[in-house]
Amino acid sequence: MPIGQDFLMELKYRNDIESVVGSYVNLKRRGSNLVGLCPFHNEKTPSFTVYPENGSFYCFGCGAGGDVITFIRQIENLDYLEAVKYLADRTGLQVPEDGYDASMQRMKAAVLEINRTAARYFHACLLSPAGKPALDYLLGRQLTMETIRHFGLGYAPDSWDGLLKHLVSKGYREQDILVADLIGRSKRGGYYDRFRGRVMFPIIDLRGGVIAFGGRILPGAEGAKYMNSSDTPVFKKSRNMFALNFAKNAGGERMILAEGYMDVISLHQAGFTNAVAALGTAFTAEQARLLSRYTKEVVVTLDADAAGQKATDRAMGILAEAGVGVRVLRIPDGKDPDEFIKKNGPSRFTALLDGAVGDIEYKLFTASKDLDTNTNEGRLAYLKRAADVLAGVEDSIARDLYAGRLADKFGVSKTAILTEAKQAARQENRRRQKKQFRELTAPRPGLPPEERTHMRAAGAEEGVLAILMRNPDYLDFVKERLSPEDFVTPFHRRVYEGVVKVLEEGRAFELSLLGGGFTPEEMGRIAGMQNKVVSQEKAAEALTDCIRVILEEKEKLDAGKAGEMPDGEWEAQLQRLREKKQRGI
Ligand code: UTP
Ligand code: MN
Repeated sequence: MPIGQDFLMELKYRNDIESVVGSYVNLKRRGSNLVGLCPFHNEKTPSFTVYPENGSFYCFGCGAGGDVITFIRQIENLDYLEAVKYLADRTGLQVPEDGYDASMQRMKAAVLEINRTAARYFHACLLSPAGKPALDYLLGRQLTMETIRHFGLGYAPDSWDGLLKHLVSKGYREQDILVADLIGRSKRGGYYDRFRGRVMFPIIDLRGGVIAFGGRILPGAEGAKYMNSSDTPVFKKSRNMFALNFAKNAGGERMILAEGYMDVISLHQAGFTNAVAALGTAFTAEQARLLSRYTKEVVVTLDADAAGQKATDRAMGILAEAGVGVRVLRIPDGKDPDEFIKKNGPSRFTALLDGAVGDIEYKLFTASKDLDTNTNEGRLAYLKRAADVLAGVEDSIARDLYAGRLADKFGVSKTAILTEAKQAARQENRRRQKKQFRELTAPRPGLPPEERTHMRAAGAEEGVLAILMRNPDYLDFVKERLSPEDFVTPFHRRVYEGVVKVLEEGRAFELSLLGGGFTPEEMGRIAGMQNKVVSQEKAAEALTDCIRVILEEKEKLDAGKAGEMPDGEWEAQLQRLREKKQRGI
């Protein structure tokens, strides 16, 4: 009997991988992941990694990996159902008899209610005597009471259980509050408030639900400046944006992408109600696609420091891929929008906004950085960089236009610039495609024999699976071009079928949703694919490359088998492959 997907998701959220694995392995934070010594093989330097982001673990040393269920299966030596039962018991869940139940729906509703109640509590605390320092802080940053109410800002008191007690007194269960990520569980089993002594920013989704919180520390206190809710059943960071609930109604053709909560709030207060921000992570492709539903153009105004510039370049690429027009607003003196507006007023900001340059101009401008274009040497170096910029411009008229301007400015021929750009474009394209393909298809430890004999196909198959797991949007694209039989390795074929099934139900991919059909060893390999370090750039091209390789390899393999096939069958097979290839692969 298969176990329902809703139940599996609930199990996953109640047993967050960090704390389950953490009770067996001593984990240390490394970036957004955790590492430790692998409990499944002997090692002296940690290669065992836990990825809270997608609820998986993977060991680069021995290839063990999977979701939280796989972990328990292996460490407690249980079979799949026993492990599910074990995790369910641990958190007071009943494994449903008929494999299906509505508990996930119930849990989502509970989390939303808890969040709303918490937001009210935080807001009331802000206005109470205990919240005075926080309120003074916000007023000191020139927010009006109206703005504070509009955004529902609040204060989490500096107490270990203020919120917890409040929620429990309202009848909410600790397990649900835990799932909402408002409390944590200590090593000794007690619960404590996660947000303490912070100004609270509720994050509201497009339906008006409070889905998460950001919390800013007050000046002088210790700890990370901002803390954000982790992903919960109602919140996925990479798919939501701060203030989009307001910005989507702002009317007008453009939106402003700012760096943080405070920038967005200042912008709204100054009348720029089309401003949004990512939620404590880098801007993602999913967020770009989300914005593309509500606007044609995004003006990016991230911080002016080196990190901000890098983030700007990244966001520009991601937005362009999502088909959104991009302009860049550079704020003088390296300030953020919040500081700029406070100092210079909204009308000066409008002027900046109107003067925001298109992405090409921005890139041509930043290319002159650290070059002295008054010398011939500097000019030459600049023109080379400029040619690289033009190489990335797909619109040939725009390319021509900018080449003309550069030619005039530097007294060289337009043709020379365009030729240089074309060459650079070819090189860059080849380089990127090769890089993507290499990343995607690089073999990992512990390859089973069938993959070793079909190395090229197996690598490409992994590539397709890795991309598909992260980009559910490509499902149709892949399905139109690949059927399960096209997979050369039977294992990948099964994974493909599993992934397609999950995505077809409209769910984001989660290892746990594959259910009990894979052995722990197989789960390890799937976790390896899921956590491959792959740049998201040019994913569509890389996908196309991988599909082409799979079909080529399949053709070769079939040709080898052709001798054993009845005549008609082989012909039909060949015809089918040819048709697929013509469909643009
Ligand atoms: P900034 O450090 O630029 O903060 O981080 P800010 O928005 O200008 O805030 P103020 O003006 O100092 O109050 C920008 C964004 O990065 C995320 C938050 O979403 C923040 O709004 N961030 C920053 C974190 O998630 N954690 C941090 O520790 C810092
Ligand atoms: Mn700031």
